[in-house]
Amino acid sequence: MNDHDKKVMFSSADTGGSDSWETPLTTFLPLDAEFRFTLDAAASAENAKVAKYFTEQDDALRQEWAPNTVWVNPPYSEAEAVCSPNCKKKRCKQRGHCNTKYKAGQDDFVVKAWAEAQKGATVVMLLPSRTDKAVFHDYILPYAEVRFIRSRLKFGGCKDSAPFPSMLVIFRPPAPSAPAAPAARETTASQPGAAFSPPAVPPTDMLTDLGRQLGISYV
Ligand SMILES: C[S@@+](CC[C@H](N)C(=O)[O-])C[C@H]1O[C@@H](n2cnc3c(N)ncnc32)[C@H](O)[C@@H]1O
Repeated sequence: MNDHDKKVMFSSADTGGSDSWETPLTTFLPLDAEFRFTLDAAASAENAKVAKYFTEQDDALRQEWAPNTVWVNPPYSEAEAVCSPNCKKKRCKQRGHCNTKYKAGQDDFVVKAWAEAQKGATVVMLLPSRTDKAVFHDYILPYAEVRFIRSRLKFGGCKDSAPFPSMLVIFRPPAPSAPAAPAARETTASQPGAAFSPPAVPPTDMLTDLGRQLGISYV
């Protein structure tokens, strides 16, 4: 693995590494043709895939996504709690500072995507395929379409494949309630040539009419 690949794959979010795994165009373009994205909700000016995008400074978690059709390859870091006053974490030592405010992680983006879909957004997420996580069982499995990606992706122009499998998670707005069945059979019958679509449950008088013709009583 060359230095570029190592930097993209293994450096921490604080050095702009793992949070910036750029989507390969061979993955993104067919999806864009299918969904016609109107917003990239996790981007920078350098890696945005859609003309309209949110950056870390905008903080997508505080923005409205609906009613857009949204592409999200979220930052890969896990959420980080505020450090305690006597924090001795190795990570904080290494980067030279503690965490003074809650740092959102990938799971926060999944929950946000779910919530925005309830408000009318269609959201397509590219995520590591980690099916043992609570967020997968609580927010993805019951609500989203999941497409597992067959081979490992090569992110951000890397020569080598990622060390984890990936999946596409598609949240759609809830389906509108089914249209009401035609109110009266006569309306359809009085429009010659009109296509007739039978109501899901035939009205009782239709059953009795048919019964009368056949000499059968249904009621
Ligand atoms: C994995 S990269 C995806 C880049 C690009 N959108 C793509 O699909 O190739 C995640 C991007 O999200 C940005 N980001 C980090 N925190 C964010 C936040 N709270 N809101 C919006 N973008 C954020 C990072 O700076 C990074 O550019």
